[in-house]
Amino acid sequence: MSFSITIEDREISFLEEDKNILNALERENIESHFHCRDGFCGACRCSLKEGSVEYKQYPLAYVGDNEILTCCSYPTSNIIIEID
Ligand code: FES
Repeated sequence: MSFSITIEDREISFLEEDKNILNALERENIESHFHCRDGFCGACRCSLKEGSVEYKQYPLAYVGDNEILTCCSYPTSNIIIEID
């Protein structure tokens, strides 16, 4: 099952091999912030406007309500996100 990621005015597909949302954004040349790529720093934090995600391992960095860390999460539905 493949889910879509909508960001700004673009819709891209999340592929199994992407493993996390950040990889999917990079594959489509969508610029987003990141640093550790491992759930520690919080640099990849963005807003989740619609849909749901899961974490393989829950990140150490703070994640507020309606926020996600793209480096370590994957969609479990079609999602709409916004990079601040
Ligand atoms: S890049 Fe550091 S938490 Fe995602």
